[in-house]
Amino acid sequence: MSIEKPLEGKVGVVTGVANKRSIAFGIAKAWHAAGAKLIFNYQGERLKDGVIKLVREHFGEDTPVCALDVADDASIADFATFVGQHTDHVDMVLHAIAYAPKEPGCLEGHFSDIPREAFCTSLQISAYSLIALSRAMAPLMVNGGSITALTYYASQKVVPNYNLMAVSKAALETCCKYLAFDLGRREAPIRVNCISAGPVQTLAARGVSGFTGMFKVYEDKSPLQRSCTLDELGATATFLASDGAASVTGQVLYVDGGYEIMGM
Ligand SMILES: NC(=O)c1ccc[n+]([C@@H]2O[C@H](COP(=O)([O-])OP(=O)(O)OC[C@H]3O[C@@H](n4cnc5c(N)ncnc54)[C@H](O)[C@@H]3O)[C@@H](O)[C@H]2O)c1
Repeated sequence: MSIEKPLEGKVGVVTGVANKRSIAFGIAKAWHAAGAKLIFNYQGERLKDGVIKLVREHFGEDTPVCALDVADDASIADFATFVGQHTDHVDMVLHAIAYAPKEPGCLEGHFSDIPREAFCTSLQISAYSLIALSRAMAPLMVNGGSITALTYYASQKVVPNYNLMAVSKAALETCCKYLAFDLGRREAPIRVNCISAGPVQTLAARGVSGFTGMFKVYEDKSPLQRSCTLDELGATATFLASDGAASVTGQVLYVDGGYEIMGM
């Protein structure tokens, strides 16, 4: 492992790029700069052209990109086949996927209003998908490797309006720990960790009511008086994917200006 290119020779699967503001895009840039070859997904026809253009502009014209809807088992299987056609090994996987319906109580209003169907949809897409994606990618991770998911602090303490997404993130973090235990015992061990990012202005984040006001709270309260940048999230994800994190698994790493340590 070279210090400048800690991911040289590694192959990464990046999910969750919607546009250039996506956390997944920031992490992909860092993985690419660290020497990794990357394979991407786009969620559906609506995002297809934009994601393909963005990815090929930044990571090369021959970068593989394929549809993946984590709500659909057949789509996950097709994605795994596609990845297997483009590489004989995967070393790291990024899960940067979340969704909650815009129904009463989900991302604003009364938590007690959350409808059953919306609850199940969010848990399935935002948390179960980590299990499904890990299962699909594991056979390709022949040398072992690292799976990293994105989470948020609202899983631990109440952050008004996060509501359903907070529950999904709590489930995601627990899935991360159980997957770490399960996949860490393979002959070629796979590590599974979460990065808990402070607020970042992205498409998904704009769905949370009052999101913009959160930056002021982080400026006022966190030790570093700010949230985090895409570059910083990229650097942390590079560390987690690198051999430097060879004994780090099942963890939630906070990249949030230190906000998580505060009691008041
Ligand atoms: N932005 C923040 O403040 C923040 C903070 C902490 C954690 N996160 C997490 O980071 C991750 C990435 O979100 P982001 O903020 O970069 O927003 P984003 O909107 O750029 O990314 C969300 C991605 O989820 C994908 N997605 C949703 N449903 C899907 C499905 N059924 N199948 C496949 N893909 C699907 C979208 O296509 C999109 O690419 C999410 O897990 C989010 O909860 C975000």
